[in-house]
Amino acid sequence: MTKRISDLRKEYHTSSLDEKLIHTDPLLQFEIWFNEAFESGIEEPNAMVLSTADRVGNVSARIVLLKGIENGGFVFFTGYQSKKGTQLHSNPKAALTFHWHSLERQVRVEGKVAKISRKATVSYFNSRPFDSRVSACVSPQSSVIPDRAFLESMREGFILDLQGLPPVCPDNWGGYCLKPMVVEFWQGRAHRLHDRIRYRLLRQNWIIERLAP
Ligand SMILES: Cc1cc2nc3c(=O)[nH]c(=O)nc-3n(C[C@H](O)[C@H](O)[C@H](O)COP(=O)(O)O)c2cc1C
Repeated sequence: MTKRISDLRKEYHTSSLDEKLIHTDPLLQFEIWFNEAFESGIEEPNAMVLSTADRVGNVSARIVLLKGIENGGFVFFTGYQSKKGTQLHSNPKAALTFHWHSLERQVRVEGKVAKISRKATVSYFNSRPFDSRVSACVSPQSSVIPDRAFLESMREGFILDLQGLPPVCPDNWGGYCLKPMVVEFWQGRAHRLHDRIRYRLLRQNWIIERLAP
């Protein structure tokens, strides 16, 4: 390595975050920041780290794509029998993290997930490109498989069996909605004195607080 990792350093100075100027609803504030991330040309601004844990506290995290803000929550799609699906089944508490690097921003969300309706899942599934729908049908997400050829042959066999008909949304695939209890907006600032504004839900009201960086 030519540069020591510990020497990597960046100053943050793009913007600021003022609790007097933000929206009182964190989902609306999220939409403002999300739109700014989108408009700034960030690729896949909807990529987020989803952290889950099993019943005894073993944690795992991975990236998934946010597919909408609906019914007061963050919606994403995945395999219900995947590792995350299994963890969410036994422990619905989860966290999301967005990092919009060029804007020097992070958003953290904590809350509980629930499956969205089958109708909403099927409607989204049917809007996906053909190849994505086929992959959702043939991939036993998070299971050990023998090799790459196994996947390719599952795909080819599945497409042949379809005989030109559209793939049907499998029962073990669908959407989750994470309803937030805590949402934190982080804006990088000069001298490492960053802005952190946290919303936490207390008896149906959002309490807005500033946290030390
Ligand atoms: C940019 C990006 C987007 C992804 N989007 C999704 C997604 O929306 N849904 C999904 O199930 N996996 C998605 N993945 C794959 C997951 O990170 C992960 O590999 C997969 O869901 C299996 O995770 P699990 O074994 O922890 O359940 C994405 C990966 C990347 C890098």
